[in-house]
Amino acid sequence: MKSFTLGRVIPLVDVTAFHPTENHFRTADVTAVALPVQDTRLRPLRDLRISVTDRCNFRCIYCMPKEVFGKDYPFLPRAELLTFEEIERIARVFVGLGVEKIRLTGGEPLLRKDLEYLVELLAKLRTPGGDDIDLSLTTNGSLLSRKAQSLRDAGLKRVTVSLDSVDEAVFQQMNGVGFSAASVLEGIGSALRVGFAPVKVNMVVKRGVNDTQILPMARHFRGTGIEVRFIEFMDVGTSNGWNLESVVPSSEVIRTIESTFPLVPAGRDRPSDTSVRFRYADGQGEIGVISSVSRPFCGNCTRLRLSANGQLFTCLFASHGEDIRAPLRSGDSDDALRRRVADLWLHRTDRYSEQRAENTIAPNQPKVEMSFIGG
Ligand code: GTP
Ligand code: 5AD
Ligand code: SF4
Ligand code: SF4
Repeated sequence: MKSFTLGRVIPLVDVTAFHPTENHFRTADVTAVALPVQDTRLRPLRDLRISVTDRCNFRCIYCMPKEVFGKDYPFLPRAELLTFEEIERIARVFVGLGVEKIRLTGGEPLLRKDLEYLVELLAKLRTPGGDDIDLSLTTNGSLLSRKAQSLRDAGLKRVTVSLDSVDEAVFQQMNGVGFSAASVLEGIGSALRVGFAPVKVNMVVKRGVNDTQILPMARHFRGTGIEVRFIEFMDVGTSNGWNLESVVPSSEVIRTIESTFPLVPAGRDRPSDTSVRFRYADGQGEIGVISSVSRPFCGNCTRLRLSANGQLFTCLFASHGEDIRAPLRSGDSDDALRRRVADLWLHRTDRYSEQRAENTIAPNQPKVEMSFIGG
């Protein structure tokens, strides 16, 4: 059976090969795929998040606590990293499968030398329909003042900057290395000046650490055009000492802000978005909440992550990744790579955050670290 998608002939999966009892297509059965490729829960593959390094110059307590990520920590050796050309090739395969959004992450992506060159390569990609890719970057902002202009020139469209407090003492304690909030704010200023749009700010809220900073952050960014997204502290990886008591549910964040600045619910931009938006009733912009713990959003999760050493992870909380670097380096054609990725996605069953909410996660399940696969 054939179907035509925007001028390209995309042979369809043979539906007779679907195994209802196993609820997936078997590897050998994936002869071809329809676009967009969908997983076992009918979620399309739309977003690719590319980690370009597992290193970071911060040691945020909720991500890379310095007691664990010390000087002996086995970070990836340089030779293990995908080259920019390899990343571009993999990204192109993903775009061919229906990916429309690409986000560069780390660790801290701006630590990767000449990242602008990768941005340049990725900015040239087009969807099968000829549209631009939504190309963005998540950064801790420490190098942004220096790099904003060159990233913009290379074709980057927007950035999200992590900032957990505008209070120096709280922020410096939280990032683990005493980096100043003022410098990150300078980076955010540079991002605005060079024309990134939108510029968003991510704040992870941890009870007893920066929950007093919700209102100051809201107040600081109100009316600037910058959307702050308040993120529930998550149990990613196995080293951040997560417990439920440290999570400030988004409902509490909203109540806190509303007590001073009335809010109007504005929902999700797209069903697959992580963030639910609220507008300030007085027209001074909007905020978002990312509620992976209190309101999991796995049902619409369209994201796949590529680690810096070429492993594919179909969930932020996955135990292992699927290596794509070896087949790539041993001569797989684009078509063969496409088949591998499609096969991985067709078999995907992930719904970790929902399982967490249902209390059905096996204890001591290994989980990849967030700094290894990006946020
Ligand atoms: P926009 O496209 O600008 O909305 O960005 P985004 O929300 O896709 O990306 P961003 O990196 O800003 O993500 C915000 C935060 O949401 C991340 O840092 C993670 O903490 C969390 N997050 C992102 N994707 C997922 C996901 O698939 N599952 C869970 N549980 N959390 C996620
Ligand atoms: N819980 C929630 N968000 C986290 N991030 C990192 N670790 C966690 C965690 N444990 C966020 C950072 C950054 C993005 C890369 O991921 O704040 O915005
Ligand atoms: Fe680095 Fe971002 Fe993790 Fe903080 S959250 S340690 S800035 S990768
Ligand atoms: Fe997607 Fe996994 Fe996050 Fe659920 S927990 S939204 S499946 S990445």
